[in-house]
Amino acid sequence: MNECKVIAILNRKGGVCKTTTTHNLGVALAQRGYRVLLVDCDTQRNLSISLGIDHPDEEQYALCELLQPLVDVDADDVDIHTCIHHLENGVDFIPNKQALSTLEKQISTLDFRRECVLFDALEDARPDYDYILLDCMASLGMLAVNVMMACDAVLLVSTPEEDSIEGVSLASDFIKEASRALKKRIHVCGLLICRVDMRYRKSRTGVLKIKKLFGPECPVYPEMVPDRVCVADARNRQVSVIEDAPESEPAQAYQAVCDLFLREVESYGSRSA
Ligand SMILES: Nc1ncnc2c1ncn2[C@@H]1O[C@H](COP(=O)(O)OP(=O)(O)OP(=O)(O)O)[C@@H](O)[C@H]1O
Ligand SMILES: [Mg+2]
Repeated sequence: MNECKVIAILNRKGGVCKTTTTHNLGVALAQRGYRVLLVDCDTQRNLSISLGIDHPDEEQYALCELLQPLVDVDADDVDIHTCIHHLENGVDFIPNKQALSTLEKQISTLDFRRECVLFDALEDARPDYDYILLDCMASLGMLAVNVMMACDAVLLVSTPEEDSIEGVSLASDFIKEASRALKKRIHVCGLLICRVDMRYRKSRTGVLKIKKLFGPECPVYPEMVPDRVCVADARNRQVSVIEDAPESEPAQAYQAVCDLFLREVESYGSRSA
């Protein structure tokens, strides 16, 4: 039996398909029989909403409640299993609330183990899953430091846009810095380019630039996700495009990406701290 691998989906810029990729990769992994837990680590709660929670802030148990006892000694312990939702498609997830931004500030003030809060919180779920995917915020604050401590590898996601490419650079530097400071190896298990439309020069130039800049350092997946309205349509219906339009190009692309991802991640051991 494989050990659980925790993967962070990262880019320093917003709106570059992190959440869409987390959702679709999660479903693709579940379809292949892997036990998958998705964790919404973004205060925008987009992943929670995409997974069918209309009002995440009204949830009794979400990521905040799980982390709170690790920050506040007076708070009662919360079993991670009470925070986990189970979907019929086999995907499990932990929703998030806006209150996480307040909690992030509290985490920053801890005297000890402030970077280990998320790592410690996820510990009891590790034996139950093959993959835990962390849908990250665009900012690289204390929560992102916690994500670096909790993860074994990072999947970088980018669109071919200039600001997204810059976001990948910033995220790569952050990973290197985190690796050094936290004294652990953080693999980059791939760079996925999304919202590609090769009819446009801007897209073609962006793709080339990404391959040239990052290709030498990390596997830039040859499979890219095309820009199609069916992805946003599926999101509005709170399902993955893989389920909503399985024959569509983006769905097929995400399936192929899942195979590339698995090949990459399974080529190295899980705990490399
Ligand atoms: N392949 C695609 N084709 C068309 N639209 C897409 C595609 N992938 C994602 N989108 C749309 O792009 C927008 C941004 O995607 P997403 O929310 O996944 O980005 P994000 O990086 O998680 O953003 P944020 O940083 O705000 O959390 C969404 O409206 C989503 O529906
Ligand atoms: Mg997002």
